Amino acid sequence: MQVIASAPGKAILFGEHAVVYGKPAIAMAIDRRAYVKVSKNPDKKIHVNIRDLNIRGYIDFQNNAIISDSPQKGILKYILNSLKKVHDGSGLNICIDVNIPIGGGLGSSAAVTVATIAAVSKYNNINLKEIEIAKYAHEVELEVQKSASPLDTTISTYGGLIYLEKDAKDIIQLEIDYNIPVVIGYTETRGDTGKLVAEVRKKKELYPKIIDPVIDSIESVVEEARNSILKNDKERIIELMNINHGLLDALGVNTKELSDMVYTARTAANCGSKITGAGGGGSIIAYCPYETEEVLSAIEEIENAININISKEGVKITVSN
Ligand code: PMV
Repeated sequence: MQVIASAPGKAILFGEHAVVYGKPAIAMAIDRRAYVKVSKNPDKKIHVNIRDLNIRGYIDFQNNAIISDSPQKGILKYILNSLKKVHDGSGLNICIDVNIPIGGGLGSSAAVTVATIAAVSKYNNINLKEIEIAKYAHEVELEVQKSASPLDTTISTYGGLIYLEKDAKDIIQLEIDYNIPVVIGYTETRGDTGKLVAEVRKKKELYPKIIDPVIDSIESVVEEARNSILKNDKERIIELMNINHGLLDALGVNTKELSDMVYTARTAANCGSKITGAGGGGSIIAYCPYETEEVLSAIEEIENAININISKEGVKITVSN
């Protein structure tokens, strides 16, 4: 038996960093997915091959160890911890294609985790509900990264466009009948999410009277943006995205490369643009309701860019014999 599961990456439209302090956020699942194929391995080892990243290795289940020469082997920790939730340690071949720019704040680790849990549980005849997949995947992210909001793993499990309520109390699908055309620009320099979250926290402690209102303003931006998205009020969404960028800049997570991409997008077309994810490297997002191609090619002249759309589909499992 062979099981293939796939799960989408994500892009945060509004609210990153403030979400760490219980504020709401809006994110979309993107039409870039991680694919995890699981089949039996008669030699009793658990082999992992991440083809598009050129990572090969195997997992020593009993000793909780990862054996690989790859410099990027860190991603294998997500696979080991995912296996611990739903596997007994018997031989497996795990073949992965990521298809999502890595480390760019696009939820690649969450997508790999969700798809691994889905594929391996199904392979073991465990029928997990989506809510259980999301829960296990969030636990894995917490174990590996030490801190993680449930945003990435939730959106990767369910797909769509979501509003994460205050204090992560609930996840609400924003039902819209139009597409949100988005360009993602990303650099080769990766931001370290844990480090950036810690830096913002330090600033917040040093300057509470300044930073607390910035976090509160981001919350107001998210609330306004939610209404504007539901009404498809393009001009307002553009403006709110630009405001959100300014607030993230105030938190200190901007870089010259991100800033260059943000303003390149705004010069190329009437669009909203901001850092997406943790910042400090990584990605920007440009909401381009009018001229997507112009923004895409303008960013491509300075960095990498991809055009993405919302993926309505969350985690998906296919079984073949
Ligand atoms: O680096 P990313 O895309 O996973 O973004 C992290 C978003 C933060 O709000 C900065 C952190 C979090 O856990 O929500």
